[in-house]
Amino acid sequence: MAEGRVLGHLFLIHDMSFIEKRSKETKWYVFMFFILLGIVISALTVIIAQWSWRGWIGAMRTLLTGEGIFRPSEMTSEEVKPLVKDLRTLIKELQVNQHIRDESLISWTPKVLKEILNKELSGDEVIIVSNREPYIHNRTKEGDVEVRHPASGLVTALEPVMKTCSGTWIAHGSGNADREFVDEKDRLRVPLEDPKYRLRRVWLTEEEEEGYYYGFSNEGLWPLCHIAHTRPVFRSQDWEQYVRVNKKFAEVVLSEARSKDPVILIQDYHFALLPKLIRDKLPDAIIITFWHIPWPNPEAFGICPWREEILEGLLGSTIVGFHIQFHCNNFIETVDRLLECRIDKEHSTISFLEKMTAVKAYPISIEWPPYWLNLCKPIQECSNKIRSLHGLSYRSVVGLGIERLDYTKGIIERFLAVEKLLDLHPEWIGKFSFIQIAAPSRSRIETYQHFQTEVRKVAERINEKFNVTQNPPIILKIEHHEPSQIFEYYRGSDLCFVSSLHDGMNLVAKEFVSARNDEQGVLILSHFTGASRELPEAIIVNPYDIDQCADALHTALSMHPFEQRERMRSMRTYIQEYNVFRWAGRMLIDASRVRQRNRILRRLETMAIRRGEKEFWRANIDDALFHSRWTPKT
Ligand code: G6P
Repeated sequence: MAEGRVLGHLFLIHDMSFIEKRSKETKWYVFMFFILLGIVISALTVIIAQWSWRGWIGAMRTLLTGEGIFRPSEMTSEEVKPLVKDLRTLIKELQVNQHIRDESLISWTPKVLKEILNKELSGDEVIIVSNREPYIHNRTKEGDVEVRHPASGLVTALEPVMKTCSGTWIAHGSGNADREFVDEKDRLRVPLEDPKYRLRRVWLTEEEEEGYYYGFSNEGLWPLCHIAHTRPVFRSQDWEQYVRVNKKFAEVVLSEARSKDPVILIQDYHFALLPKLIRDKLPDAIIITFWHIPWPNPEAFGICPWREEILEGLLGSTIVGFHIQFHCNNFIETVDRLLECRIDKEHSTISFLEKMTAVKAYPISIEWPPYWLNLCKPIQECSNKIRSLHGLSYRSVVGLGIERLDYTKGIIERFLAVEKLLDLHPEWIGKFSFIQIAAPSRSRIETYQHFQTEVRKVAERINEKFNVTQNPPIILKIEHHEPSQIFEYYRGSDLCFVSSLHDGMNLVAKEFVSARNDEQGVLILSHFTGASRELPEAIIVNPYDIDQCADALHTALSMHPFEQRERMRSMRTYIQEYNVFRWAGRMLIDASRVRQRNRILRRLETMAIRRGEKEFWRANIDDALFHSRWTPKT
């Protein structure tokens, strides 16, 4: 101001926004600090929890496996021992119950089977051994190469399991072009169009095939195990080849095994000696031997000149499996009669030469849904196709029989039943035809040649007797059919007749049911098949009783569609649940339990040896084997 005049204005501007900015920043840092603090505290909590959990689990494991109890340097005090023992027993029971509960809840699919393999057997590679291979390369007369799926229930069942589990399938390379399709290690990846596992082919000389396959396996063991009134033939030269080929396969298994404790699934009567041969070299292997055919009673089995060798060979297995309990009982009784061993009937186990083998029933089944069904045409088209193929009228009624041309299958009895049906119910003459597909099998064996002649003769006689211009009583096709064709027959027929005189399981019965998603068609099933135990909704017959079979045919042909649906639906539900993935899964679960148990036993044995109590261990081994229990001397 000067002389009362304002000379100018002074503005003082103060920027206070920094306060707001600082305050925001401070809030942000405080917020981040608390977040970080939260993370650190959570991480610390998790780490501490993990430590404690691991420690606790480790302690429990130590208790349960007995390490803590039996390790000499850290012996548990005497007062605690009974408590620990009780605890172990209790937890073991709980585990068993838990397993049983889980298994009954499982819905069996390829995915579940794979999970079991990963969980229970830590993804171990599975090795399957069978005589018959799943894919056979043959060169035709025209020079082309065809790939065949053999007519074998065993192969039908195992192929989906192998596709799921991967691994290696070892089998005889029997096709005349098989050698052209393997690598330098005799292997190839299959299925060819979408490889899922490895096939390892084993080559046999003419002499080996003659003695081991045609001779001892199929002229000796096959009739020995089936009650079909064909006399077994035992020749020492066949036995020599059988021993030789079993040894050959054992070498191949050893060369294919990648670990010292692989899971090996041995299939059928061709390899009775193989389990022991492998066990001698790989004591820790899990060997599951599945006998796909019946096991006879001790008297019948006793006529085999090499009966002890066969039993000892089989007892090299961790588990020996049969389709039904009855065959397990026969096997146990046979062993009881012929070998010095200890048998625990309650647990179905045999202890022989300090090794334990479990004997269990695992009814085999088929893949659900079956692969071949996806490729099939609708029912009506299949029905028309099979009728036009054989010059039958479209309205004719068709019965079906499908199997290998084998004297155990009751093919002649079936034809006689058709004859009787037409005698008793002439209204079916010229309206009903029975198509019999019989894949040529083991044709070098004389009994099979005679059987073929006989089958042809009976079919001709019956056709001549009824002498109709269309829809003859029997259409006999002795030729190989691929599964896709077989499924067309299943779907196009009105009934399927399985009349085996004796059969371990019979998968034709289950396949027929699986093919009928229209819930129509009738199954007539022999009482002497394993399948009859599982499918009581079929019409069950005694194939030797021709009148009863004729009656069953008439009942089937006259059955109301509603009743067909009811029976078919029930059988389909059963097979869907009890499928082949369950069969394999249950064996693998059991195998893993045995493996765990063996590990405990081994630890106990080592402990005993360290304590200088080997003799005491031996004396008390039964207790350990049968009850996983062993108390040290002191
Ligand atoms: C039975 C046997 C199988 C065999 C099949 C076909 O089902 O249990 O092991 O593969 O017959 O017989 P094949 O002699 O042709 O293999």
